[in-house]
Amino acid sequence: MSDTTHAPDDGPILIADGVHRSFGGVRAVDVEHMEVERGSVVALIGPNGAGKTTFFNVLTGFERADGGTWRFEGHDVSGQAAYAAARVGMVRTFQTARVFPRLSVLDNIRLAAKDQKGEHLRSALFPWVWRRQEAALGERAAELGRWVGLGDKLEDRAGTLSGGQRKLLELARGVMAAPRLLMLDEPMAGVNPALRQLLLDKIRELPGEGITVLFVEHDMDVVSAISDVVVCMAEGRIIASGTAGQVASDPRVIDAYLGGSSGDLRDMADELAPVVDELYADGRTPDSTDSDGTDSDGTDSDGARP
Ligand SMILES: Nc1ncnc2c1ncn2[C@@H]1O[C@H](COP(=O)(O)OP(=O)(O)OP(=O)(O)O)[C@@H](O)[C@H]1O
Ligand SMILES: [Mg+2]
Repeated sequence: MSDTTHAPDDGPILIADGVHRSFGGVRAVDVEHMEVERGSVVALIGPNGAGKTTFFNVLTGFERADGGTWRFEGHDVSGQAAYAAARVGMVRTFQTARVFPRLSVLDNIRLAAKDQKGEHLRSALFPWVWRRQEAALGERAAELGRWVGLGDKLEDRAGTLSGGQRKLLELARGVMAAPRLLMLDEPMAGVNPALRQLLLDKIRELPGEGITVLFVEHDMDVVSAISDVVVCMAEGRIIASGTAGQVASDPRVIDAYLGGSSGDLRDMADELAPVVDELYADGRTPDSTDSDGTDSDGTDSDGARP
């Protein structure tokens, strides 16, 4: 295997270089360099439209890149199809949970398993092999269902779950796929406060299970609670990375949030409001300087009639 340059337990688990993708004139993703440290929990933040989901889509083969390379576990996986990315251990969830509503919670989880030997001809000839495997998968799926707090809903149709419970189900499905890197796109969106803490705790447990986490999140409390590293994107680029504290106080990050019209990271903007007020407390409000002195009502001023 000529492209295996790192020992599996060595170095960053994901390294991306020069990854870009445009839609029409919009440079949705323009990432010069990004690394994800093995065993870490990394948050990807940024205002609406910053390119976070598109970056996820490109890395996991759900969207093509216009250019760039990315290596996962030392293998060049640039431009590979989604199933190939998942097979090597890059598994992602979606901003809007994707579940099979008519299937039970348990079956939803079970179907996320990869490498089901029952699908292979050789195993089909030896049914006891896949029967044993099916039983093991069922047990694992039930275990993960209980792990995310859906133990009493395993037989319910997934379509009956609330939005928040679907997010929990998605997490269980993600883990069932035995990822090395689990990429979660807004795992907390729509999750009520009671379930949020559970979800947070579960995500924090993943590195202990050998799963590195890269997740998109808007809520800075969530980000600070569980991230080792925070990376901020704006207009497709990575503009800052570091601890939650470092990134939240980075002027480029503050500019990106306040400059945009998205109103995102509202908490952060709210916290900053008093600072901005103080800055302009001497009366120099940003729009009090009508410098050109034009009178919007000037049409009245000449008063002349023909
Ligand atoms: N399929 C598409 N076709 C055209 N433009 C797209 C497409 N997907 C994304 N975009 C644009 O690319 C940019 C990045 O969008 P993206 O969804 O990746 O942002 P995001 O950071 O995930 O935002 P949010 O926080 O709202 O989920 C936006 O300007 C968006 O309108
Ligand atoms: Mg998004």
